[in-house]
Amino acid sequence: MADDVLVDIRGLKKYFPLRKGLSGFSPLKVKAVDGVDLQIRRGECFGLVGESGSGKSTIGRCILNLVRPTAGLIRFGDKIIFSDGGLRSGGLKSGGIHLSYKEMLPLRRDMQIIFQDPTASLDPRMRIGEIVAEGIKKHRIVSGADIEKKTGDVLELCGISRDLSSRRPGEFSGGQKQRIGIARALALNPRFIVADEPLSALDVSVQSQILNLMGDLRRTLGLTFLFISHDLRTVEYFCDRIGVLYLGALTETGSSADIIDKPLHPYTRALFSSIPRDNPGVKRRRIQLKGEIPSAINAPPGCKFHPRCLHAVDLCAQKTPVLEDAEPGHQVACHRWRELAAAVNGETAALGI
Ligand SMILES: Nc1ncnc2c1ncn2[C@@H]1O[C@H](COP(=O)(O)OP(=O)(O)OP(=O)(O)O)[C@@H](O)[C@H]1O
Ligand SMILES: [Mg+2]
Repeated sequence: MADDVLVDIRGLKKYFPLRKGLSGFSPLKVKAVDGVDLQIRRGECFGLVGESGSGKSTIGRCILNLVRPTAGLIRFGDKIIFSDGGLRSGGLKSGGIHLSYKEMLPLRRDMQIIFQDPTASLDPRMRIGEIVAEGIKKHRIVSGADIEKKTGDVLELCGISRDLSSRRPGEFSGGQKQRIGIARALALNPRFIVADEPLSALDVSVQSQILNLMGDLRRTLGLTFLFISHDLRTVEYFCDRIGVLYLGALTETGSSADIIDKPLHPYTRALFSSIPRDNPGVKRRRIQLKGEIPSAINAPPGCKFHPRCLHAVDLCAQKTPVLEDAEPGHQVACHRWRELAAAVNGETAALGI
């Protein structure tokens, strides 16, 4: 297994049981994540995009062990966080693994989350210094007088003066609260950060400041990111590679340049067709998707995207496409990607581009 992979996800499934009123659970399941293979390399920022309900947060929560997967394997560094026992990988012994809270503790320090809503994620009764120091104490990052120093240092690293440590979250703006949330995460010296829509609750005017802060921290601290976002422009700017999710399955993965300028899956094309390109050499027409994203309880058979796909043929309703290498580092799950790519290239040639 490649050593440069920090987070390795194989065949990940998370099915949520569906509650049926007061009578208990229905046999139906919400297939939030339905067979995802994903590798996040050390030091990279991997962007996860897809419509609401496509399973982005659930993947992040499975990695952080906040929800227990239904099946698959998750490895973080040299530790297996979850295995259903059915997979063998790099000489690992089979047999199910799901780390206990105690076993997970050292890993939890290594992997932190930046939440979407900084107001909801910071306890309004606590002083911000206490909020940041809480994890430092719990995980014994430093002790004694060094706790206060570490707290002040990490706050200042995130652009908040240590002199403000005794203030409470309510005294700060949204952008400052997000800085405090980032400081809390960084206080544990993590290697890996899940940033789940970290900008979407912020004013547009401060979004770029927080993005720049995360970029600086990423460079100076060598952090690895899973960056979850609806905002495709942000993902393009911040991420080295992108995975596109549709109803719990990856439709395409590749470098940001591949996904944005050379998308192969009809869903990716539609998703990114809404972003105007600065590069006049890349022409694209806006593609309007038909219909709504179907329910994850009753997903369409075959390719889950087929009812909304302009290019679907009978095979698409019958057989689930697997993610295959289209070119090195660029994978797509579509039965027709070759024909469609040839057609797009032909059209481009006809336009004289
Ligand atoms: N705890 C839960 N119990 C039941 N269903 C859940 C639970 N958490 C998520 N789901 C369902 O799983 C699916 C995926 O949800 P998830 O939150 O991962 O999507 P998402 O891509 O993060 O969406 P958004 O962009 O809106 O944040 C949705 O259908 C959601 O309703
Ligand atoms: Mg989400």
